[in-house]
Amino acid sequence: MQLIKARDYDDMSARAAALIAAQVIFKRDSRLGLATGSTVLGVYKKLAETGFDFSHISTYNLDEYDGLDETDKNSYRHYMNTNFFRRVNIKPGNTHFPDAQKGKEYDTLIELAGGLDLQLLGLGHNGHIGFNEPCGEFIPLTHTVTLDESTRKANSRFFRDMDAVPKTATTMGIRTIMCARKIILCVSGKEKSEILRRVLYGPILPAVPGSVLQLHPDFTVVADADALGD
Ligand code: F6R
Repeated sequence: MQLIKARDYDDMSARAAALIAAQVIFKRDSRLGLATGSTVLGVYKKLAETGFDFSHISTYNLDEYDGLDETDKNSYRHYMNTNFFRRVNIKPGNTHFPDAQKGKEYDTLIELAGGLDLQLLGLGHNGHIGFNEPCGEFIPLTHTVTLDESTRKANSRFFRDMDAVPKTATTMGIRTIMCARKIILCVSGKEKSEILRRVLYGPILPAVPGSVLQLHPDFTVVADADALGD
C-alpha cells in the first residue's frame, strides 16, 4: 500500500487527478473504473481542467441505483454526465454502468475488454466500496444489493427525502474491483477517520468491505489530514 498524505480536500483531489492523468498519458486507451459521490467530485473537476485527450479511454462505473435512469438527477449516470463526461471529449459510447438486468454480464464485458487498468474508489461511512455493504462474505461479482439504512441516510442529502432514496442498487463485486491493475482510494474528512483506520490497518473482514484492499498489490490511498487524523 502507498499512502499519499494530502493537506486538504483540494490537495487530495489534485493528487488523485494527477495519478489518473499519469495513467492516461502512459496508456491513452486506458480502461478506468470510476466512482461517484462527494469525495471524488474534485478529482473530476481537476481532470476536466487538464484539457487532456480522453477520446481513447473507456470507463466502467462502479455502481448505479436501481430504477433511476440518466434523466434522474440522482442517478450516477447523471452525476457522471454532469461532472465529467460532458466536460471532456470522452466518447459517450465508451462509458458503461452496471444494471440489475445485466448483472454479471458487466464482469464479462470488463474482462473481454481486457480488464480495468485503474479503479478509483471513495469510502462509505460503514466501510463500503462501490455498494458492497458490510455483510457475512465478500461477494465477488456484479450483483444487486439492498442498501444499508446508514448508506441510504448518508445519501439522502441529495434526495427530496429519505423515502425517495432507492432501496437497492447494482454494484461491481469485490473480485471485479480487486482485479483492477491499480486502485486509488480517496478519503476526506474527520468523519471518515475511524473507518479509514479500520480499512487500512484492521483485520480483513467482509464486515469492513474496504479492508480487502490491503491485499491489492498496487493500492494507493490519497487521504487528507482530517481523514488521517493528523
Ligand atoms: C459511489 C460509490 C460509493 C462512494 C461512497 C462515499 O459510486 O462507489 O462507495 O464512494 O459512498 O461517498 P461520498 O464520497 O459521498 O462520501
